[in-house]
Amino acid sequence: MSRIPLAVVTGGAGFIGSHTVDALIAAGFRVCVLDNFSTGKRSNLAQHANSDRLDIVTCDVAHGIFAALAPITAQHGPVERIVHLAAQVSVVASVANPLVDMQINYGGTLHVLEYARAQGVKKVAFASSAAVYGDVVEMPVREDTPRQPVSPYGIDKLASEFALDYYASVHGVPTTALRFFNVYGPRQDPTSPYSGVISIFADRAKAGRGLTIFGDGSQTRDFVYVGDVVRAIVAALGDGNSRLIANVGTGSEITVLELARTVVDLCGRKSTIEHAPARSGEILKSRARVDRLSEKLGVVAETRLVDGLRATLS
Ligand code: NAD
Ligand code: UD1
Repeated sequence: MSRIPLAVVTGGAGFIGSHTVDALIAAGFRVCVLDNFSTGKRSNLAQHANSDRLDIVTCDVAHGIFAALAPITAQHGPVERIVHLAAQVSVVASVANPLVDMQINYGGTLHVLEYARAQGVKKVAFASSAAVYGDVVEMPVREDTPRQPVSPYGIDKLASEFALDYYASVHGVPTTALRFFNVYGPRQDPTSPYSGVISIFADRAKAGRGLTIFGDGSQTRDFVYVGDVVRAIVAALGDGNSRLIANVGTGSEITVLELARTVVDLCGRKSTIEHAPARSGEILKSRARVDRLSEKLGVVAETRLVDGLRATLS
């Protein structure tokens, strides 16, 4: 049996997941990725093609993870830690298909927690979301702000947080829920109409094509660079505390209109900016309070938006 600690990353072929795999392998873990490749890509993990530290297993978390992990643990020993990122990630898609969102985003979390309980996993770090808050008047949003999600996606992320807390308190599974704000950076897939706004704007602006803003563009988001998010994930995995919930953002917000102008400026092409009707189920304002992230996990999201945008555009 190998003595290298084994970490599972669900959704590890995706945007945040593949950066997480890079960091965990660099930190000395053996990693097993579970992914159904609905939005994730093997090419995101191509840099580890010659590594004996990475296994990639096709698996739908909505159907359970025991069978997928059995051959891996038979070879490498028990799973020590799980980063649970696999999800249907679009707020808009969750409004159109709430049952699918529930099966993947809530059901998948229950399957992961059942595995962690049965196998004595030492930590489950979960990708929650700023979407659990819904429309909050007072900014920045604190972790104890009342949660009033306005989309099925936000509801399923909040239900997952409750499940984490239940498994921690009743079954002793150590858990951390990280409420990511709007994550951006290289490898974010721009090809779906539901993709993250920075990936879409960057893709279009680089080609000199027009950008579309849904609504008047006054909605704000706290955009956090993927490298900073990964540092929070790694810190949460190694953190001895359980039942921690922490925002992962920068503490700053920018309007979508200002973002569009910044991306166009950085690209130096003459893209037009047009407006289309606002999307339903969306929050209007979003900015994280980040004291807990720095105090409990020692992480400060320090990448400036302009630097993160340059890295994304390059
Ligand atoms: P992504 O789409 O790149 O990654 C999701 C990954 O999960 C993909 O590899 C996909 O193939 C996989 N997946 C989807 N359904 C699956 C299933 N049923 N079984 C197994 N794998 C499945 O998106 P991302 O931005 O990297 O998101 C990662 C996590 O972070 C998600 O849980 C998302 O809800 C959360 N999150 C993201 C943001 C953001 O701004 N990107 C913000 C808050 C929370
Ligand atoms: C995003 C994440 C979600 C996460 C949440 C946390 C994605 C796809 N969604 O949701 O997983 O939980 O942050 O805060 O990563 N917009 C435009 N034009 C476009 C695309 C988007 O104007 O071409 C606008 C949207 O209407 C929205 C804003 O940009 O107001 C951000 O949209 P989007 O990137 O889809 O993210 P969220 O809905 O905030």
